[in-house]
Amino acid sequence: MYRTHTNGELRLEQINTQVTLAGWVQRSRDLGGMTFIDLRDRYGITQLAFNMEENADLCEQARKLGREFVIQVEGTVIERSSKNKNIPTGEIEIKVSKLTTLNAAKTPPFTIEDDTDGGEELRAQYRYLDLRRNPVQQKIRLRNKVALETRKYLDSQDFLDVETPYLIKSTPEGARDFIVPSRMNPGEFYALPQSPQTFKQLLMVSGFDRYYQIVKCFRDEDLRADRQPEFTQIDCEMAFVEQEDILQTFEGMIKHLFAEVRGIQFDYTFPRITYAEALEKYGSDKPDIRFGMEFVDLTELTKGKGFPVFDSAETILAINAEGANNYTRKQIDALTDWVKRPQIGATGLVYLRYNEDGTLKSSVDKFYSEEELAKWAEKTNAKPGDLVLLLCGNTDKVRKQMNELRLFMGTELGLRDPNVFKPLWVLDFPLLEWDEENDRYHAMHHPFTSPKPEDFHLINTDPGKVRANAYDLAINGVEIGGGSIRIHDRQLQAQMFDLLGFTPEEAQEQFGFLMNAFEFGAPPHGGLAFGLDRLVASMGGSDSIRDYIAFPKNNRGRDVMIDAPSALNSTQLKELNIAVSMENH
Ligand code: AMO
Repeated sequence: MYRTHTNGELRLEQINTQVTLAGWVQRSRDLGGMTFIDLRDRYGITQLAFNMEENADLCEQARKLGREFVIQVEGTVIERSSKNKNIPTGEIEIKVSKLTTLNAAKTPPFTIEDDTDGGEELRAQYRYLDLRRNPVQQKIRLRNKVALETRKYLDSQDFLDVETPYLIKSTPEGARDFIVPSRMNPGEFYALPQSPQTFKQLLMVSGFDRYYQIVKCFRDEDLRADRQPEFTQIDCEMAFVEQEDILQTFEGMIKHLFAEVRGIQFDYTFPRITYAEALEKYGSDKPDIRFGMEFVDLTELTKGKGFPVFDSAETILAINAEGANNYTRKQIDALTDWVKRPQIGATGLVYLRYNEDGTLKSSVDKFYSEEELAKWAEKTNAKPGDLVLLLCGNTDKVRKQMNELRLFMGTELGLRDPNVFKPLWVLDFPLLEWDEENDRYHAMHHPFTSPKPEDFHLINTDPGKVRANAYDLAINGVEIGGGSIRIHDRQLQAQMFDLLGFTPEEAQEQFGFLMNAFEFGAPPHGGLAFGLDRLVASMGGSDSIRDYIAFPKNNRGRDVMIDAPSALNSTQLKELNIAVSMENH
């Protein structure tokens, strides 16, 4: 037996017990006559004690151990003279009688401690060592707990876990596909699924009624803190349901997860907002509602008063940064530079200070009277001590810019506490999105999403106005999940493909299997998928999903540990009938 106990287990109650422990040497300390070693495993740390006087050989042996050596010890549990209140095993230590080195270790390239000295790149290269660190292990454990509780909840609701294939034909989720060549079918390729979308719909046609899968999805898209080329979805589909059934089922799941994993009870129904309202109030389809600071449209109050910048703008928006009147001139200048950076792209920033003494001061005093400024203050609900910030421009652009400014001010003013969670359903997404570059419509969610029946009459005359039975769940400004009620009628599905610019032949070629299935008794159905990585990161209070993935890729899509992607050798290429050309590079 390698061990009788783990390194997180022993307490005063086990005093005088003979034990065998195994683990890694975290660190060792020589204090003259005594040598102490911290022995670590996934469960904790136990102190080992070696006494020079009692057993010089053993003590010498212990002194030779380096960091991260894998060892096994036998000994007796004894009470410590100087106790460590910071760890659960801190009241005991092991008086070692036998020490075996199971494996030596090279000095690790960075210290394997809670606060490590290793840079990101180095830790990524030695991810298996980074994963030994306690804070990193905690994140992986959190992920395990979320996945486990997800399964428990969905199982309790009669969902069946069904696997779907990875080697498939393209699914249109809006990104590029990762492609896999087929040796047995020369010149032909599989695509890795961007999601199991079409398969889960087919499972509804098959009568499975409630499906789920915790499943890898693959998307070749530009990466960010919350995007990986391969990520995991909690993918779900239900038959004989309307949007309301889906929202309630999955609101229940999110509540279950927060209660079980974080001990947080949401004893209220999640608020809901339409897409149109979300853009109007927050300039975002995933608003962070941990704080207010909603947009106020000041176009009417500010336009046509002789201030040229506002006069030529389509929309003038304001936010009230409550309590920020103490911002110095320098801070406001810095804020102005910040909104003018190319990433935000605002032309400038106008402010209105509501001073503690009740006076108003703006950066455009020249153009507006005291009474006019008072109206701005009234409309933005500003009080003494507040700072109102204004941006102007084209409506869509200024909303995006104001969204960035609002989030920035929220952070600055400490309104985005990572331990506060504010879920929000965003409903009624548009069915289609205009693609300027290619001069055509795209499905905003995906082409299988059904239009709202009440908007159906617009489908040929004003397709951009048609709303979909599509919904997202946002938590703290992050899109955690999304889905829709699907089309289950062949005719309507064909019409949708037509709208998206597919010829009937192309539609049949790519999605004939699904449209054919719709002719064999497809039930009304709908579903959604949560991004597991995002959900876990959010529950852990972080923006970066990478920390919650055991072996993530960097922002160039590389795994620097195994050095992937990499070139194929000529034999492999020949077998696959592939010739590599670097013409585009
Ligand atoms: P969607 O494309 O909205 O919907 O994806 C669902 C959720 O998956 C997460 N997500 C990602 N997470 C990490 N890295 C990525 N690259 C990434 N892309 C998406 C997000 C997102 O909300 N088939 C539909 C679902 C449905 O209609 O049922 C779908 O895939 O959290």
